[in-house]
Amino acid sequence: MKDDKIIQMDMGASVSSRGGTVCLGIESSCDETSAAIVDSNRNILSHIIYSQIPEHQKYGGVVPELAARAHILAIDEVIRQTLNRANMTVSDIDIIAATAGPGLIGGVLVGWMAAVGMAQSTGKPLIAVNHLEGHALVPRLAATTADNSASPVSVEFPYLLMLASGGHCQILLVRGVGQYEMIGQTLDDSAGEAFDKVSKMLGLGYPGGPIVDRRAALGNPHAFDFPRPLTDKPNCDFSFSGIKTAARTFLNKYPEPHGDEFINDFCASFQAAVVDCITNRLAHAMNTSAVLATKPKTLVVAGGVAKNSAIRSAMEKLAHEHGMIFAAPPMNLCTDNGAMIAWAGLENYKVGNIVREPIAPRPRWPLTELMEK
Ligand code: KG4
Ligand code: ZN
Repeated sequence: MKDDKIIQMDMGASVSSRGGTVCLGIESSCDETSAAIVDSNRNILSHIIYSQIPEHQKYGGVVPELAARAHILAIDEVIRQTLNRANMTVSDIDIIAATAGPGLIGGVLVGWMAAVGMAQSTGKPLIAVNHLEGHALVPRLAATTADNSASPVSVEFPYLLMLASGGHCQILLVRGVGQYEMIGQTLDDSAGEAFDKVSKMLGLGYPGGPIVDRRAALGNPHAFDFPRPLTDKPNCDFSFSGIKTAARTFLNKYPEPHGDEFINDFCASFQAAVVDCITNRLAHAMNTSAVLATKPKTLVVAGGVAKNSAIRSAMEKLAHEHGMIFAAPPMNLCTDNGAMIAWAGLENYKVGNIVREPIAPRPRWPLTELMEK
């Protein structure tokens, strides 16, 4: 593992009232090998993310076999460095948590087996974390406003969550740990997938979200008339494949080479369509009987797509229009990371969700199944 690919996350404010339960969290479900030590007083004591993006970039997306091998090569060193940076040894850790799905199973197995090995050899409690639950709960570890300004926002249950990542796009009513009610979801692609595919069509590279976000900030959102699928429908579901098809159709009409202005306008118009779909579907969600009866005070965005500046500010505006608080994780906790797994581990530990007999990691593991336990 090359040291230059290790990202040591900025821990933000200085550690306050360090203590409580200390959790080591491990994430390996996609293209980041990550570990973090987080305590129940919301201190991130260390956090390492080893990003495999450079390894997958030349293929235009994540290659599962390459990812699994890269996780195997990186996992021991990532955990070792995470402990070192916190000046801790395994004996200082109270509980061990790792992603047990959903995700690319080769990668999930690597992180999960590392956690099982450590838990069995030390006798410490082991927590099987659902990766989506990591995204869903991390705003309770740390959250901020749309522009990521310093003021922390505290997120209490229940809250209305837009979970948008590379693999998922769901509106959930989060009632508590393990209590996720599905209000709407995508019928085809996820929002992150749409960003990645449009970026690929334009030859801009992988992952597409951050690149399209940057280019969109420089372009005209009215230049191309992208569709807003399902926005006339009374339910809260999404569809992004129509936007993707429209992108392909536009590009066929305007042959390459595309200048910077064209690309910026294209990205801005595409992103505006995604933003409109998200705010429209969320506005519907706020009027469903489940949400009206529950009256969540906070509208939250999470998952890799939560890094998108236009989505954050449009959701903040929507929240304020509906008398709600808006909260988003700080940028470094939106995309996949070990701290969100450690935090979900702590939240699950508190409610007694400990692994008591061997379990099999799962490539598919819908959040709503956690309610059925
Ligand atoms: O949550 P995540 O790290 O991985 C999954 O669990 O899937 O999300 C990755 C996704 C990718 O599709 C990436 O393009 C997207 O998040 N993403 C963004 C931005 N940053 C990352 N999408 C839109 N705007 C961004 N700034
Ligand atoms: Zn994720």
